[in-house]
Amino acid sequence: MAALKFAGMDDTDSEDELPPGWEERSTKDGWVYYANHDEMKTQWEHPKTGKKKRCAGDLPYGWEQETDEKGQIVYVDHINKRTTYFDPRQAFTVEDVVLKPKRYDGNTAALEILQGRDLSDRVVVITGGNSGIGFETARSFALHGAHVILACRNLTRANKAVTLIQQEWHKAKVEAIMCDLASLQSVREFADAFKAKKLPLHILVCNAAVCTQPWSLTADGLESTFQTCHLGHFLLVRCLQDVLRRSAPARVVVVSSESHRFTDLLDSSGKVDLALLSPPKSEYWSMVAYNRAKLCNILFSSELHRRLSPHGVTCNAVHPGNMMYTSIHRSWWLMTLLFTLARPFTKSMQQGAATAVYCAVAPELEGAGGMYFNNCFRCLPSAQAQDQGSAAGLWELSERLVEERSAGVQAL
Ligand SMILES: NC(=O)c1ccc[n+]([C@@H]2O[C@H](COP(=O)([O-])OP(=O)(O)OC[C@H]3O[C@@H](n4cnc5c(N)ncnc54)[C@H](OP(=O)(O)O)[C@@H]3O)[C@@H](O)[C@H]2O)c1
Repeated sequence: MAALKFAGMDDTDSEDELPPGWEERSTKDGWVYYANHDEMKTQWEHPKTGKKKRCAGDLPYGWEQETDEKGQIVYVDHINKRTTYFDPRQAFTVEDVVLKPKRYDGNTAALEILQGRDLSDRVVVITGGNSGIGFETARSFALHGAHVILACRNLTRANKAVTLIQQEWHKAKVEAIMCDLASLQSVREFADAFKAKKLPLHILVCNAAVCTQPWSLTADGLESTFQTCHLGHFLLVRCLQDVLRRSAPARVVVVSSESHRFTDLLDSSGKVDLALLSPPKSEYWSMVAYNRAKLCNILFSSELHRRLSPHGVTCNAVHPGNMMYTSIHRSWWLMTLLFTLARPFTKSMQQGAATAVYCAVAPELEGAGGMYFNNCFRCLPSAQAQDQGSAAGLWELSERLVEERSAGVQAL
């Protein structure tokens, strides 16, 4: 022992060994505490390691916990006919680790976030779930048992996506329902078809978008990027809000983009300007139209959260990642070229779906919303995207548009 002491090794290998004067005991419900006989004190933390521990599992076979006449807990070993104050489970204690929420980042895949999750009691609707990020989001939820409904404008492409997911897991509950976000009537028909199924709705992912497409007007008389990316989703949520409220806690996730930072949508008097959101052909810039629509996504998300969170429906907006090689670039050759060059350096689509999936299921986000996430982290969007006046202004304008246009008023 002296030699060990000289070498600085007189201490035992076990960091758990108690210093002299200390004794390990446990409470009736298995928490370990430490008693110091010299100082007449007790504490929960191990005097050397500072860790808290509890006994794991049941008592060994043949053992029973009893209380003696002094009210002290004793352990009776019926097989060997002996009684002790020492809880035999103390040989198998586990540390009391406070479980912190798992940390994710830009490399996290959507399936990683759902690892170990059983979503078989969840119903999920995803717009544009037939391709790109929407498809990976749908696939991830479906492979974890959720009932997933793809809201898509082209049923042939949508049914192909359904088949792909079911080929991966034949029990996957996925189906497609027609929903063209560029048509107010189609959105209403989707909502009716969904409601006819009498399902709850726990997660709604507003994902669909078009980017840099040539100017065109929808049948409702609005510029189609604006209507597809924002107004269609606005009406969809409006039509489904009663189901969402009945299914609370429910979550809406709006897929936006960092490109929202490069634009604004206020006129010179500081009001949300329809002429900027749905401009005539002569004033149309396809990239600007996309950026404005993505700014609308964040404003819509925060106002939606403000209005529906008292009813148990929360909403967050996300940026999925930069220049992921989906179909989003298809309308303009220059975008296709840029996306092709960037392809080796960008996220996979599974990684692109991760932030939306995170916002849809993370336990630490229960009841939380009105925020903007990138790489599964909360970050601040642009100043205008944080402006509550703009969010309320956009909401009022959108309300007016869906009512007017549905009534057949189509003037720009
Ligand atoms: N890819 C990126 O780098 C990137 C970066 C930032 C943000 N985002 C955002 O991520 C989201 C998903 O985009 P993605 O990259 O996955 O692109 P994507 O592969 O082109 O997916 C877009 C989806 O939207 C659907 N869609 C388009 N117009 C529609 C309409 N009128 N009605 C219903 N669905 C419609 C498309 O359907 P069809 O297949 O029938 O056309 C497609 O399923 C978008 O909100 C986008 O703004 C993407």
